[in-house]
Amino acid sequence: MVPGLLSGKQVVITAGPTYEPIDPVRFIGNRSSGKMGFAIAQAAKEAGAKVTIIAGPVQLATPTAVRRINVETTEEMALAVEDSLEACDIFISCAAVSDYRAIQVQQEKIKKTSEQSIQIELEPTIDIVSTVTNRHNKPSFVVGFAAETHNLTEYAKSKLARKKLDMIAANLVGENQGFAVDDNALHIIWTDGEQTLPLMPKTQLARELMTLIIKRFYAKNSI
Ligand code: C5P
Repeated sequence: MVPGLLSGKQVVITAGPTYEPIDPVRFIGNRSSGKMGFAIAQAAKEAGAKVTIIAGPVQLATPTAVRRINVETTEEMALAVEDSLEACDIFISCAAVSDYRAIQVQQEKIKKTSEQSIQIELEPTIDIVSTVTNRHNKPSFVVGFAAETHNLTEYAKSKLARKKLDMIAANLVGENQGFAVDDNALHIIWTDGEQTLPLMPKTQLARELMTLIIKRFYAKNSI
């Protein structure tokens, strides 16, 4: 990482899962360790940026000199993002946000019955990154992630367009790759190009991704 490339720039990153409560002891959430987002925060800091990480429930140390805001639900994450966007140059949406939440959160623990099935009605959560890209004064460069089990490139390309992103980092999730492991590979797609970053430790992958983001950020914003 070339130090100073992002000096004077502000980077906001979401990381980890969000948890949506069902009752006081249970929740719906995604599998996510937050490792990729925290590694990106570290790489952005090394490049000289002022970095804010908005983290769902994860057990990770905050990189030195990175501002951290802890959240639990998607709504809390959306509010923290909103509060952090002023003067944000690059927004990186790495969080594995829960797509649904219970319409009614039970105030008491749901008791288990061995005979009957139960139903929990769910509603979609707010799409944080789409809210960001639809803002009037949106950050100059917005990066999303797509974790898929199949049709990786096709789904990622459609998300790039639908969510109005400048770049999307797509990864296959499965055995030894993706969630909760230290290694990952990414297929990076932007509006007029793409590049594959092969399987490597997330710390190194984050630096390579950051290098690409910086290149595309300046290519877009120097015109
Ligand atoms: O649609 P999907 O969840 O696969 O899209 C992934 C991208 O959208 C990621 O960048 C993720 O952080 C973001 N996202 C979001 N809010 C949601 C769902 C996904 O910001 N509710």
